[in-house]
Amino acid sequence: MCGIIGYVGNQEVAPIIVDCLKKLEYRGYDSAGLTVLNGKIETYKTVGKIKELEKILPKDLKGNIGIGHTRWATHGVPSTINSHPHNSGDISVVHNGIIENYLPIKERLQQEGYDFVSDTDTEVIAHLLHSKLYGSVDSKSKISSFIEALRSTLKEIEGSYAITTVCSSEPGMMLAARKDSPLIIGIGDNEYYAASDVTAFLSHTKDVVFVDDLNLVMIRPEGAEFFDLDGNVLKKEKTTIDWDIEAAEKAGYEHFMLKEIHEQATSVHDTFSGKLSELDGSVNLEELKMSNEEIRNIERIEIIACGTSLNAGLVGKYLFENVAGIHTDVDIGSEFRYSNPIMDENTLSIAITQSGETADTLAAIRSCRSYDCNTIAITNVVGSSITRDANSVIYTRAGPEIGVAATKTFTAQLVTLYLLAIRFARARGMIDVNEAKDLLVNLKRVPGQIQTILNHRDTIRECAEMFAKERDYFFVGRHLNYPIALEGALKLKEISYIHAEGFAGGELKHGPLALIDDGTPVVAIATKGHVYEKILSNIKEIKAREARVIAVANEDDREIEKYVDWVLRVPATNELLSPLLSTVVLQLLAYYTALARGCSIDKPKNLAKSVTVE
Ligand code: F6R
Repeated sequence: MCGIIGYVGNQEVAPIIVDCLKKLEYRGYDSAGLTVLNGKIETYKTVGKIKELEKILPKDLKGNIGIGHTRWATHGVPSTINSHPHNSGDISVVHNGIIENYLPIKERLQQEGYDFVSDTDTEVIAHLLHSKLYGSVDSKSKISSFIEALRSTLKEIEGSYAITTVCSSEPGMMLAARKDSPLIIGIGDNEYYAASDVTAFLSHTKDVVFVDDLNLVMIRPEGAEFFDLDGNVLKKEKTTIDWDIEAAEKAGYEHFMLKEIHEQATSVHDTFSGKLSELDGSVNLEELKMSNEEIRNIERIEIIACGTSLNAGLVGKYLFENVAGIHTDVDIGSEFRYSNPIMDENTLSIAITQSGETADTLAAIRSCRSYDCNTIAITNVVGSSITRDANSVIYTRAGPEIGVAATKTFTAQLVTLYLLAIRFARARGMIDVNEAKDLLVNLKRVPGQIQTILNHRDTIRECAEMFAKERDYFFVGRHLNYPIALEGALKLKEISYIHAEGFAGGELKHGPLALIDDGTPVVAIATKGHVYEKILSNIKEIKAREARVIAVANEDDREIEKYVDWVLRVPATNELLSPLLSTVVLQLLAYYTALARGCSIDKPKNLAKSVTVE
């Protein structure tokens, strides 16, 4: 997730862009850059925060039109070359989003003589736009207008984007466009802003137009015009927003955690975007530096992680064993580092860490080196420490997570584990094309299903408020839903400070039932699957102790209503994928419970976002 900005007006643009970028810094902060249009395009970019960019800007940088970017890397490490803007001839582009088909376009443009300097997907937009405007890399005469060239570029690229772009042969204008990535136009006094969120320009204007998908905007000092991809002029209504800066950073949500829970429809999609082929049931994981033969030789997988990432790892165990047929162990980083594991070159170690900086996970994966085994890191932070310690690095594309409680990074980790499990299963001949296709088709439906859950959040809120004063809370699940019970309990305890524990349903009678009595809330994850009847019988055991049961169940499950006190619904999906949906319900349950108890949700007491010490 990056931040983009553009400005057209009568003030000096460089200080305005810098000011707007500082407001966007929370969206990403590994590098930044800007382009000023002043007869030519003048571009400055650097690694680090916006204050580093400020240091390299000439004092006399003049111009009234410009674009800027603050980056959270997805393609290519944080570096000056990879930071935006990306230029081609007299064109400069900034982009937020992911271009899924950038590789074939890049190869074609390279054959046409375009010189690519970065590892980014965005550079493709700049060169493609140039080729549409001038016809070839060397030509100086235009074959279309700037807006026509952008329209034609957008028709060719697949994926998500919010773009602002300028061209020095079109001196009085900036163009902007969006698809599946936010873009808002701010309207000031004879000046216009285009940004990935209103936070950027809120101190300059509160009058905005929200740009719709597949719309283009042509912004000149005299006004902003809106078009669809066929060139039809669109009429847009101006809205005045009443958010202050703090509310705007949270996109109007009360807390970052709630915003991040809501971002999951997008972050789940972004994490699998460009990697699935439903036609042949294959998963394309370029980042995985393992041949099919090496995958076939894996005898055991060792997953290492802490906290929420550990719970993702426990789901991974079920996936690798059930889908790919590979024996899998899961270990806590802090325990593994002091153990004497039995490993060899046929063991694959997978470290899962959203921050990439958790000291125990880092130490554990480093200790695997002496066993000669292959290692994979799954992380959300490009260039983080873990990326230097693994043979392959697979990035989740959740964007920066600010709330201390992990939410969108957890579901993105799960998506990555599904992709790996399917990739391994295909290489080892453990599932056929049709089974793989079924999983991929269902995975593609998950973002929409998450949105359905979010649309019904009021029921979850009502339930949370009902039980918010409890002292203890229990979560039970079986099979894949057992780690989700652990994760539900972890979320609740860390932000609401209620004592919460997760159990495997079958373990209840081996101890935990002693804790359950009259009125204790117990959340049972009871989505349909091969252990559904088993969890129903656990629910009956719990009800016999007069506890109150909240079930997480499928939309069409009427049977469950007979046995429980509350039902929180999730759409039906392939049994293996249901953790991606049940988790969202439990995150909302934890959030609304903490809200009702007046807790400090984004910064719970005693906890840090990244645990870089032992
Ligand atoms: C819980 C939470 C922590 C982290 C744990 C590992 O919501 O955020 O339990 O999951 O500290 O962090 P990473 O994934 O950065 O290694």
